Amino acid sequence: MTDVKTIKKTAEEFAKEQKEISISEFFEKNKHLLGFDNPTKALLMTVKEAVDNGLDACEEAGVLPDVNVKIKQTGEDRFRVIVQDNGPGIVKEQIPKIFGKLLYGSKFHRLRQSRGQQGIGISAVVLYSQLTTGLPTKVWSRTDEKKKVHYYELFINTTKNEPEIVKEQTMDDGLERGVKVEIDVVGRYRKTQSVDDYLKQTSVANPFARITYNAPDGTKIIFPRSFDKLPKPPKEMKMHPYGVEFGILQRVLGKTNSKTLQSFLVNEFSSVGAQTAKEICKVAKLDPNAKPTSLDRAGIEKLLNAMQKVKIQRPPLDCLSPIGKEELEKSLKKEYPQAEFITVVEREPEVYRGMPFQIEVGVVYGNVGSNEEPIDVLRIANRVPLLYQAGACSTIESAKDVDWKRYGLQQPKNSLPIGSAILVIHMSSVWVPFVSESKEAIAPYPEIVKEMKLAVQDAARELSRYLSGKRRAGEQKRRIQIFERYAKEVAASLSVLTGEEENIIEKKLLSIIENRNKMKNFEEQETVTIPVAEANSKTNPKERRKEKSLEEFREE
Ligand SMILES: Nc1ncnc2c1ncn2[C@@H]1O[C@H](COP(=O)(O)OP(=O)(O)OP(=O)(O)O)[C@@H](O)[C@H]1O
Ligand SMILES: [Mg+2]
Repeated sequence: MTDVKTIKKTAEEFAKEQKEISISEFFEKNKHLLGFDNPTKALLMTVKEAVDNGLDACEEAGVLPDVNVKIKQTGEDRFRVIVQDNGPGIVKEQIPKIFGKLLYGSKFHRLRQSRGQQGIGISAVVLYSQLTTGLPTKVWSRTDEKKKVHYYELFINTTKNEPEIVKEQTMDDGLERGVKVEIDVVGRYRKTQSVDDYLKQTSVANPFARITYNAPDGTKIIFPRSFDKLPKPPKEMKMHPYGVEFGILQRVLGKTNSKTLQSFLVNEFSSVGAQTAKEICKVAKLDPNAKPTSLDRAGIEKLLNAMQKVKIQRPPLDCLSPIGKEELEKSLKKEYPQAEFITVVEREPEVYRGMPFQIEVGVVYGNVGSNEEPIDVLRIANRVPLLYQAGACSTIESAKDVDWKRYGLQQPKNSLPIGSAILVIHMSSVWVPFVSESKEAIAPYPEIVKEMKLAVQDAARELSRYLSGKRRAGEQKRRIQIFERYAKEVAASLSVLTGEEENIIEKKLLSIIENRNKMKNFEEQETVTIPVAEANSKTNPKERRKEKSLEEFREE
């Protein structure tokens, strides 16, 4: 036994050292968790959080977004970032909390597709700004042209995780409607893999947005809209029983207004009608008329198990807002006008842990990079481009997992294929499972990786068709050139043998070659296009999927 006298520090002494840690203090020490681990990334995060919020606000308010981004270099490693949107603005009382308190927002508690979801984005930027420059963040907000502009200068009080207002003012002008934010940060500007790429890709994923960008080097870029219509607004969904865990079920049971277990299941969950609710209660051996609050730990366990066992319809899919096949195609054509070939595929929505999600994949081929380098992958989650942590992302995992040689591209082992191509992978979901708070990579859930791989294979198949067509055309051209080269000599010999004029024979020979070529083209088109046309004419996506999965099975 240890002698009490030999203990160097007592529990009482330990107890005196225990202190609550404020969330702001925690992230002040761990800014890398929020994506501020180096100056280049920090500058990107500053722009990204403000732009994502502006686009979310505009889309939710039904306004076509017009977002202005201006970055000024104010010192060797100092930048002033100004982002302005034309959204609904923020009411006066909410401004300090939104910008001056971590974990405060309107999107965390709901299940509806949006760019932001954590309630930490813009306040993290304010935190980083004050940490590196000591300067306050400036915010202007106007909710209506007839109302005044509310102006704030603020910090976050990191001990309390509360806003600290240093200036508050009402103005007559400065902003028509929306939010404008001015933030000073320590950062580094580089042309690639940063703000410029993020804005370009944002424009691809949000074809209805107009983005104006004034870069620190003085260049001004306007990303115009390629669509003048907002996407259909996604609807909010309730939790699906398949995605629920014990603690969450316990909490919801504790605060529900429903009087019975049956009505609790119907009211709180998606895809549960009276019949399904009864069935769940039956499997759980619980009384459907029992009071939800009366369930003890064992009862909750039984209910949870039954919720996973009973066959329940998939969640509603109108909570998703994919970019759209036509929209993404048009957007890619606008951004990569020099490309030889562009294709987009959109998969049917799927579900992981009760959360609906949908994958869209685009392939841009030719004149978009070196033929000797790995292809570029544009990773997008809920219309937000992801630029870092590619290695941890399910998009890259799925792209590497495809056997690209089958589709006409070289591929070193366990790597991305080689070629002048861009692969775009977009995941839309009511909750994107990011690997960290910095929202840089999508966690590789098996359901998500599988669905992404299937989508990539669908698009790769289209690319392969294009590449084999191109190869055939090249071969034919070479064949014709050979024939044409010999036609003159053959005509001369035939003229000697037959006495016919040489140039008449040559003309005839060339016309035979042309006709033969036309016929060959026609035959080849018949064999290639008919099955494709048939496959596309199947309007029932399930049928089409069945057919594709058979192909995919073969590809495995
Ligand atoms: N430009 C804006 N216009 C209108 N409302 C805004 C704007 N910027 C932020 N908000 C509101 O402030 C909230 C907090 O923003 P914040 O960026 O901190 O979190 P979020 O967008 O909810 O989630 P995430 O942490 O994933 O970005 C948002 O949920 C939104 O309601
Ligand atoms: Mg946000």
